[in-house]
Amino acid sequence: MTVVTEPATAAEVAGAVAGGGGLPTHVAIIMDGNGRWAQKRHLPRAEGHRRGVEAVRRTVRAAAARGIRYLTIYSFSSENWRRPASEIADLMNLLKLFVRRDLAELHRANVRVRIIGERADLQPDITALLEEAESVTRDNTGLTLVVAFNYGSRQEIVRAARRIAEDVLAGRLAPEAIDSAAVAARLDLAGVPDPDLIIRTSGEQRLSNFLLWQAAYAELVFLPVLWPDFDEATFDEALAEFARRERRYGGLSASS
Ligand code: IPE
Ligand code: IPE
Ligand code: MG
Repeated sequence: MTVVTEPATAAEVAGAVAGGGGLPTHVAIIMDGNGRWAQKRHLPRAEGHRRGVEAVRRTVRAAAARGIRYLTIYSFSSENWRRPASEIADLMNLLKLFVRRDLAELHRANVRVRIIGERADLQPDITALLEEAESVTRDNTGLTLVVAFNYGSRQEIVRAARRIAEDVLAGRLAPEAIDSAAVAARLDLAGVPDPDLIIRTSGEQRLSNFLLWQAAYAELVFLPVLWPDFDEATFDEALAEFARRERRYGGLSASS
């Protein structure tokens, strides 16, 4: 298993072990293609999103069963506010339903829930549910499920930069002490190892403002499947592809 997740300094880079992927510690997924799934069936886009939540349930179970420690899912981006108000409302309602219906089961399964993204612009009932999901599951020791909601990576980095500036102004941090660990510690995902594998469904091949800092050495796997059709078999395909990759972190091949 790859343990070096943030080769931040020269020493860490030198110490990073090149080699095969094995089982990823942290898998992050850009769940894309709900709208196209629905369009193909002449169904409303909301139906695609509803079926997308079922794929989330399957994926959480599959990740836990395979011994993956961290699963991050991109549920709503800071740019998704550009969609029609009715679709935004559908997505907000689905999040509420998911937390209300699934929180007890997630808790029973020893899943710890963490939410990343900007909470300030969300409706108070949604913020309350997100906080409940985190506090109820805080002490769980199984899979950590990170839900990226109203998340944008540039915004996350900007917030971290502001915190650094505040700490410097307050005399808590010297400018020379700012290193990549200091930045990482102020990101929403602080304390979680960087993703080893990022999967995007639907055939699109871009990051769409997802985990830009943390993706530095992630393996990227793009799958043609639309998110509502994502199942254990497609998950295993992505994991097998990851296992075939050779991670070098800027070093040399393990065999050379
Ligand atoms: C992903 O599916 C879900 C969200 C972005 C919230 P899309 O809604 O982006 O589906 P497509 O890309 O239009 O098919
Ligand atoms: C990325 O998908 C965001 C989520 C999956 C939540 P989008 O469908 O919003 O991304 P673009 O617009 O195609 O880049
Ligand atoms: Mg999309």
